[in-house]
Amino acid sequence: MDVISSIEEMRQDSARARARGQRIGLVPTLGALHEGHLSLVRVARERTDRVVVSVFVNPTQFGEGEDLECYPRDLERDTALCREEGVAVVFAPSAREMYPAGHSVYVDEQDVSTGLCGASRPGHFRGVLTVVAKLLNIVGPDIAVFGQKDAQQACLVRRMVTDLDIPMGIVVAPIVREEDGLAMSSRNRYLSPEERKRATCLYRALCLARQLVEGGVVDTGVIRERMRALIDDGAPPVAIEYIEIVDNRRLKPVDCVEGETLVAVAARVGSARLIDNVVVKPACS
Ligand code: PAF
Repeated sequence: MDVISSIEEMRQDSARARARGQRIGLVPTLGALHEGHLSLVRVARERTDRVVVSVFVNPTQFGEGEDLECYPRDLERDTALCREEGVAVVFAPSAREMYPAGHSVYVDEQDVSTGLCGASRPGHFRGVLTVVAKLLNIVGPDIAVFGQKDAQQACLVRRMVTDLDIPMGIVVAPIVREEDGLAMSSRNRYLSPEERKRATCLYRALCLARQLVEGGVVDTGVIRERMRALIDDGAPPVAIEYIEIVDNRRLKPVDCVEGETLVAVAARVGSARLIDNVVVKPACS
């Protein structure tokens, strides 16, 4: 397995692979890899001949006061995990390589990015889409694999690839959960043991939403209230940022669940900002 930090070398590596007739799969990450990322690698491996994992803590997607400085970084461990999974290349550029002095062009989506996490993290998706566009241009993959946990990000990347005519496929892989349901995330490591236990209320609230919908409750006001009550059960320290029920395509709030609908939550548990979601569907639809 190669570890490449230069854009030019990465381009050449992909060009050689394409000349050999290989299909390339890209898994973009911020590093601090866990089982969730490795599941994306496995999806890419099943569908392509050569998997590239990018490890880059992208400064443009972190807002002021967010965890850019303390975001966990361990390239040695990440490369060891990638090697075990049969990854061909870890692409780990520096911030200077990706954003040299004078970099001034960004990808700004104006619709899907405004709600959910976009509302409380201004500029976040502009940073995400810009770095993903750059990675797609550098690596030139046939497919890129993203996790459903970041449902809004996945939806936006799909939009970008369609709107900017980028000729490749986007694959979205299911959320990987701990045994008690907590969605795997690099940020789970910020949780104290007590907070870690409390954090499971997010998934329990999502399961409640699914149960209600399958039981015939389709009024999203009622569902959100029941979810809020489950999370706000008096035990600290979960601060809900949003509970949203939105259509699964443009991510706009809906009053009534009809067909496939996304239920998404974001909350602060101690110092960790956690997100999670489920797709629900009424039993009769
Ligand atoms: O989901 C992530 O890890 C990041 O947002 C991504 C897609 C690697 C872009 O930096």
